[in-house]
Amino acid sequence: MIPRYIINFSTREMENVDCQYIVIGSGIAGLFTAIKASAFARVTVLTKKGLADSNTEQAQGGIAAAVGEADSPLLHFEDTLTAGAGLCEEEAVRILVNEGPDRVKELLEWGAAFDRSGGTLSLTQEGAHRRRRILHAGDNTGGEIHRTLARKVKEIDRIEVLENHMVVDLLTEGKRCRGLIAVDGEGRLKCFWAPIIVLASGGAGQVYLHTTNPAVATGDGIALAYRAGAEVMDMEFVQFHPTALSLPGAPPFLISEALRGEGAYLRNQAGERFMARYHPLAELAPRDVVARAIVKEMERTGSNAVYLDVTHLDPELIRRRFPTVTAGCARYGIDITRQPVPVAPAAHYMMGGVRTDVNGATSVDGLYACGEVASLGVHGANRLASNSLLDGLVFGERIVNTTRKKLAEQRGEGTGRREVTFSGLQEGIKNCDELRQELRQLMWEKVGIIRDGRDLEKAREWFQGKMAVLEHAAATREVMETWNMLVVGELIARAALLRTESRGAHYRRDFPERRDDVWRRHIVLRREDA
Ligand code: SIN
Repeated sequence: MIPRYIINFSTREMENVDCQYIVIGSGIAGLFTAIKASAFARVTVLTKKGLADSNTEQAQGGIAAAVGEADSPLLHFEDTLTAGAGLCEEEAVRILVNEGPDRVKELLEWGAAFDRSGGTLSLTQEGAHRRRRILHAGDNTGGEIHRTLARKVKEIDRIEVLENHMVVDLLTEGKRCRGLIAVDGEGRLKCFWAPIIVLASGGAGQVYLHTTNPAVATGDGIALAYRAGAEVMDMEFVQFHPTALSLPGAPPFLISEALRGEGAYLRNQAGERFMARYHPLAELAPRDVVARAIVKEMERTGSNAVYLDVTHLDPELIRRRFPTVTAGCARYGIDITRQPVPVAPAAHYMMGGVRTDVNGATSVDGLYACGEVASLGVHGANRLASNSLLDGLVFGERIVNTTRKKLAEQRGEGTGRREVTFSGLQEGIKNCDELRQELRQLMWEKVGIIRDGRDLEKAREWFQGKMAVLEHAAATREVMETWNMLVVGELIARAALLRTESRGAHYRRDFPERRDDVWRRHIVLRREDA
């Protein structure tokens, strides 16, 4: 069984800090929640690296909201449901599409400079959207949103940001979360106590060999919530972005879906457009469909990549609208206006995560979650493009509204500071680079875009064989991350093996059909002893 903690500790031997409201993570969900909660609480934001190190900062395409004249929340609702392949929770989606436009208005009021044309917001298109409804800032939309939120955070005295603070584990008492242990940049362990703790620590793309996610995305939030007894849901649903740069020696840099929204073609090794053979929406089919079609074309033609082609589009428009992609490809000698870009799918987004209700409450009292780390069924089995930034805002706001009341009820109860000790783990492990690499390779090959029972069994056996390593204390941050990746990888493999059908991002070669009679339901996992 997975040990409850990944280090031996005694809170008596650490600095103890009493807080009112803790937010873990500094992407869109974390910073938005912190800003809003600062209206009624002193907020401490703990972030593993720098303030800007998150998936949000790298989000290119945009943020979806029904703000266009020909659009409506109902159309956005229907498109989200269709992409979600029968597994979206309708109440959550309704909240997302109805409350989304107001949250986006707030970002605009706070100074987010989304692109405009002739004074009105210019909206782009992405896969599976029936309307142009993606607000964007060139192809660095996440960067623009992050700068806007970070600027605001810095203006608010009641928010303290602690960078380089990695959360090691949550401290619970029965079914209640009381605090957490973090390790700072100098390797000192510290204990933080608070009545409200919000997990907004992002995704887990690093468990896969190829990912668009930054190095910090090691699934820590899911792993530490699971160890603390929280339920996790939909772990088998991992979204693979169809188009990441695929060049030997280059990282799988994201090539935004918005390029296809503006008319880019996908071509195979032979130069043929192939998407129409797979889906009537061709290049604008849902992401899971495009990713699988690309894998099939690569297999069919014996190639490591297909090609994203914008050479038929106005070069000036491409350079102006997509400066990040243009510059990113130019670093590797590719002028996208003149030559097609080699691309292949890469792990991009977790639909699964820590299970919450529509107000962000997890199954552990005092612990809330929003953004990519959370799972409430709003994205179903396949997230609609550009719904993730919106999700961070909408459900961050809902947590704020719920916790405002909770905090008022609990005033005077103190932070819940306790003395906790834990021992029993064997000698600390300082290096596990090989194990991490093996895990990422295994996840890619056996729990990747196209799965089958035999491979998933092998993956489970591999995890079972490795789990004993978790009985050793994690002596460095890198090992802590790897221990978290083991937990998250195992959860993904376990859920993928359980789901004997194909739906959305989860495709089983041995069960290629969607089986609504049996599987229109979520898989929820929690520790055996929780
Ligand atoms: C992209 O720009 O293609 C990524 C947007 C998203 O993941 O929603």
